[in-house]
Amino acid sequence: MTERHSGSDSGTGLEGATVLVTGGAGLVGSRIVGRLRELGARPLALCTMDAYPPTVYRKLFGVGAGHVVTGDVRDTVLVNRLMREADFVVHAAALADVAACTRLPQDAIDHNVSGTQAVLSAAAASRRLKRLVFVSSASVYGNGNPDDWAGPRDEHRSTRELLACVYGQMPPRFGEERPLRPLSVYANTKAFGEIQTELVLRPAGTSYSVVRYFSVYGQPQVIKPGSHSWVVAWFAARAAAGLPLHLNGGGHQVRDFVHVDDIAEGTLRALTAPASDRVTVNIGTGRPTTIRRVADLVAGHFPGTRIMETPMPPGDPLGGCAGTALMQRALGWQPRIGVEDGIARYVRWLKSTPAALPGWLRQEAEAAGRRPR
Ligand SMILES: NC(=O)c1ccc[n+]([C@@H]2O[C@H](COP(=O)([O-])OP(=O)(O)OC[C@H]3O[C@@H](n4cnc5c(N)ncnc54)[C@H](O)[C@@H]3O)[C@@H](O)[C@H]2O)c1
Repeated sequence: MTERHSGSDSGTGLEGATVLVTGGAGLVGSRIVGRLRELGARPLALCTMDAYPPTVYRKLFGVGAGHVVTGDVRDTVLVNRLMREADFVVHAAALADVAACTRLPQDAIDHNVSGTQAVLSAAAASRRLKRLVFVSSASVYGNGNPDDWAGPRDEHRSTRELLACVYGQMPPRFGEERPLRPLSVYANTKAFGEIQTELVLRPAGTSYSVVRYFSVYGQPQVIKPGSHSWVVAWFAARAAAGLPLHLNGGGHQVRDFVHVDDIAEGTLRALTAPASDRVTVNIGTGRPTTIRRVADLVAGHFPGTRIMETPMPPGDPLGGCAGTALMQRALGWQPRIGVEDGIARYVRWLKSTPAALPGWLRQEAEAAGRRPR
């Protein structure tokens, strides 16, 4: 169903261990669970399984009945029970769609803030737990320091001005020491989770690590209506449907694209690496890629694809790439899959997996007189 990970190095210390993975049926969680099985660990996946239609979980993510405890991290009785069995925890459950968090801020706070508190409280009470990894996001950096962008020193510069500054210059590199400047509800919930992890687990003497994922992509990621997250999947799906690609704000935003196989590997390393105890670490490639470049790469696989400019959505950061020095030091590792290769793999998977093209996108294409390719 998905291409297998090659080159394993995260196994140390996880063989035979029970690892609670919240959000364990989601894109990242299911990949982590798969890796844990390969490593001889005992993954315990907990997930609401309501972020996608059931067929996506079953057919695309390969999550079968009996693989997952279907439940909510806010269910403290359930979380406490699972926590008692856990040697390690990866807390990846979240409302992960930035636009949905903006539309439904209370839901974002319920899942990402209250849910995280429930997991942290249970972790702090555990006598068995060796380490918890809190999954955060590079969105906590926002646009970085205003000084990162050329032009007048004015915190209130418009997006248009900032974009004009971005074009043709090096984007910022976000080191972990940067101040947190969330621009969206989603990012704010992640900033809360990071700080709360330290506030709850440090005094309890529980080992933890925070991982800040940059832009995750790779098969079997699928798109959702009304979302602007997951641009590789969006562009590939629209191109496959024969629809034009939308460059929000001109596509000058910069992202650091990390393949989901690398994300899983880096997260497992953070679970066990001695040097990542109580450390917040980026998981990124250190390589900036503009959204426009992603559109060009995807369009290269679907000749004749049109690319058009559309307005910038609110809360969409201009972005940057990961500083990777601490990641390399703390995890003894760096991602292996480059964006060109990763996009080619994604397109190959999409072309061979018709179920990955959602019905609503097919209908949009048909209404526009386009035929899926
Ligand atoms: N995808 C990215 O680009 C990206 C980037 C940075 C960080 N992250 C973070 O990585 C983690 C995994 O993201 P993903 O892309 O796999 O998202 P996803 O939506 O595929 O998976 C998250 C899963 O968590 C589940 N979930 C949500 N609330 C829950 C709750 N209260 N209790 C139990 N389960 C719950 C959902 O049903 C979903 O299956 C999230 O924490 C996300 O914020 C993702």
